[in-house]
Amino acid sequence: MYEVYLRSFADSDGDGIGDLGGLRERLPHLAELGVDAVWITPWYPSPMADGGYDVADYCAIDPRFGTLADADALLAEAHALGLRVVTDLVANHTSDQHPWFVAALAAGPGSPERARYFFREGQAGGEEPPNDWISAFGGRAWTRVVEPDGRPGQWYLHLFAPEQPDLDWGHPGVRDDVDGILRFWFDRGVDGIRVDAAPAMAKVAGLPDAGHGPEAAFESRAWVGNPHWDVDEVHEILRRWRRIGDSYEGDRLFVAEAVVNGPERLSRYVRPDEMHTSFNFDYLTCPWDAARLRAVIEATLAALEPVGAPATWVLSSHDETRHVTRFGRAWTGAAFGGAALPASPTHLALGLRRARAAALLTLALPGSSYIYQGEELGLPEVEDLPDEVLQDPTWARSGHTVRGRDGCRVPLPWQGDRPPFGFSAPGVQSWLPQPADWASSTVAAQRPDPGSTLTLYRTALRLRRSLRGTGMAWRPSARDVLAFDRGRALRCVANLGNLPVDLAGQGRVLLASSPFDGELPPDMAVWLLPDDPAAA
Ligand code: GLC
Repeated sequence: MYEVYLRSFADSDGDGIGDLGGLRERLPHLAELGVDAVWITPWYPSPMADGGYDVADYCAIDPRFGTLADADALLAEAHALGLRVVTDLVANHTSDQHPWFVAALAAGPGSPERARYFFREGQAGGEEPPNDWISAFGGRAWTRVVEPDGRPGQWYLHLFAPEQPDLDWGHPGVRDDVDGILRFWFDRGVDGIRVDAAPAMAKVAGLPDAGHGPEAAFESRAWVGNPHWDVDEVHEILRRWRRIGDSYEGDRLFVAEAVVNGPERLSRYVRPDEMHTSFNFDYLTCPWDAARLRAVIEATLAALEPVGAPATWVLSSHDETRHVTRFGRAWTGAAFGGAALPASPTHLALGLRRARAAALLTLALPGSSYIYQGEELGLPEVEDLPDEVLQDPTWARSGHTVRGRDGCRVPLPWQGDRPPFGFSAPGVQSWLPQPADWASSTVAAQRPDPGSTLTLYRTALRLRRSLRGTGMAWRPSARDVLAFDRGRALRCVANLGNLPVDLAGQGRVLLASSPFDGELPPDMAVWLLPDDPAAA
């Protein structure tokens, strides 16, 4: 599955913002890369307070991205190329410009319009928020409104930015209307839905305090029994959606974004009557460390086995620091928005070497893999964006201390020797500036190069097709080495240690993450055709 961050993929109309026309033109790149499906980040009309994750109309396309006719054409063209299309459903919250919220503000306290959201009276005579809940982007999860009579009044809940008010999923109208939104897109031929912020959708009745201290961070992977995250009632919503998907002929896929406390909690999202798969944040956030990766891989497979769901493997997305950059730092793990991570110098050559090894490790694992656009080009995080171009709400809400996610969202370089590198027409300034030195990273530069990261991904994706339906079996190895077989077809050996690894008698090399001779050097991975395959 290839993640398209739409506004940074390709711009066809010269406004510096990626769009559906640009994606349509570049679909052959994705087919040639060898992916099966694309997940497209939100394409709906949006004020873009959070890059489109603030939706003002769920049944239309933002004019900056195109029209519904473009979406229909995209679906037809993708299907003709054998690519499935997954769209993003942001149903925990709407935009503050959505007609439901506009009407709720205008209608005032106690109105039925307000019942679609969480409007509450403040504490301490209205001056303090109703409870201690916090926003994923920093600060309190409540904002006080000015009532129609001009006085400060109720507060409303937003677990993300203030421009993203949370819907109350206890409201029957919300549930029915979102059913209709799902049908709208399935009827048009969308093959699947990525469920944004799934664990946020249910809240404990009465909205009790979570026990967050004043400096609390939004670390949902550490929370147990939190009243605003991973509340069990969320599964009723997911089952309802699954029934809708299943009512269509053919396959309709649901993939949940669920950053929760460990594989067991995650496995609840992929029970047989809920989502088909869920992003694996334990893997994404795991440092470049063999023992820890092995533990995550084992825990993932063990937790999913009882529910019969396939695993997913993700190295990067539009929400975290790109892994080429992370893997070149002292701390190689990831966190949402790059929050609260110790800063250290970045060694990009080391990061790229590890990223290429991580690609072979990841693409050898059983289940579905996600590739975030630009990962196949080995792109790094852009760490030196000028402050004034930053758009991620994290930057403002953290009081300009956390730069946020713009550095992984810089528009893709397609061809040429200077910005916009074919992303837009020559001379157009892209919505985030690209580094001037990306000429050797473009698709056009990498396509003919047998040693490029693009060629590595293409080859791996082609070889990977023969692995379908095969389990994995670990091989004995040193502590810093991950070695496993996928049936008779493939042995993967990844060296995360400091010493070379002897490959004698292991098999014939099919693909290596970087060139080598003899022993496998550190920070490299190799795919072999095993001489003595272990039973999977
Ligand atoms: C998800 C998205 C992220 C967005 C958030 C709020 O985490 O991936 O980009 O900011 O939800 O919708």
